[in-house]
Amino acid sequence: MPMIDRTPTGIPGLDEILGGGFPRGRVILLVGGPGTGKTILTSQFLINGIKIYGENGAFVSLDETKAHFIREMGLFSWKFDELEKAKKFAFINASPLRHMPGEVKIGRQAIGRKDFSILSLIEGIKTHAELINAKRIVVDHVTSLIFQYPEMVERRTAVLDLVDALVRTGATCLMTTELRAMGAVERAIQLEEYLAHGVIILSNAKVGKTYNRVLQVEKMRETPIDMQPRPYKISTNGIEVFPKETIFVD
Ligand SMILES: Nc1ncnc2c1ncn2[C@@H]1O[C@H](COP(=O)(O)OP(=O)(O)O)[C@@H](O)[C@H]1O
Ligand SMILES: [Mg+2]
Repeated sequence: MPMIDRTPTGIPGLDEILGGGFPRGRVILLVGGPGTGKTILTSQFLINGIKIYGENGAFVSLDETKAHFIREMGLFSWKFDELEKAKKFAFINASPLRHMPGEVKIGRQAIGRKDFSILSLIEGIKTHAELINAKRIVVDHVTSLIFQYPEMVERRTAVLDLVDALVRTGATCLMTTELRAMGAVERAIQLEEYLAHGVIILSNAKVGKTYNRVLQVEKMRETPIDMQPRPYKISTNGIEVFPKETIFVD
């Protein structure tokens, strides 16, 4: 098998599970409920990229403002504000796209607010990523955007457009989503997972009376994967995965 070019995450334990890192230039979906560490993991991927591997990174947030993000990540001593000044990092606040008002006109053509959302997002990512020559891009999180497309065909097109746009940047990309509920939306979830090149799931596993954080690689193109759920911890150093352990009790 030819060697696959990889993008190491630098997250303790994770690269071991991934056989060295994410396949370069691919789009990986990170799925997990609120509080599972999606924002921390993706930010750690970016900070390590800049500090250890000399790769610039962009964080596209559909969830929070820049001030909030910088303050929150400051708790881990990750100084994204300084890296932004040094043009190694870009923050793109895409949160207004979650609730665009009414219909929008581009040229003489009136388009629905949904199409405008995805087009604006794609345009914003392209511009900012080029500006700093980003090799790593995070989009956190696409849940509400995807929910603007209740129709399966439209949703498929929107997600495909976004994945396509990310692939065209040449960067290794992480996209997060909070979708993983049961029932009616289940089919839609499988769609996003199917369209991404890799899927990682963050969840809580109950062992006895305690809940343990577990990370599971569900799919990863060009990578022989360890599909066991592995425990992970969040501390002031960020995320650490324990690639040799099965679920443990504290
Ligand atoms: N210093 C810390 N030590 C332990 N856990 C932390 C620390 N800082 C944040 N957390 C945990 O991280 C979680 C939030 O992570 P975050 O990446 O914002 O989640 P998500 O983006 O998936 O909603 C919370 O559950 C919180 O308990
Ligand atoms: Mg978050």
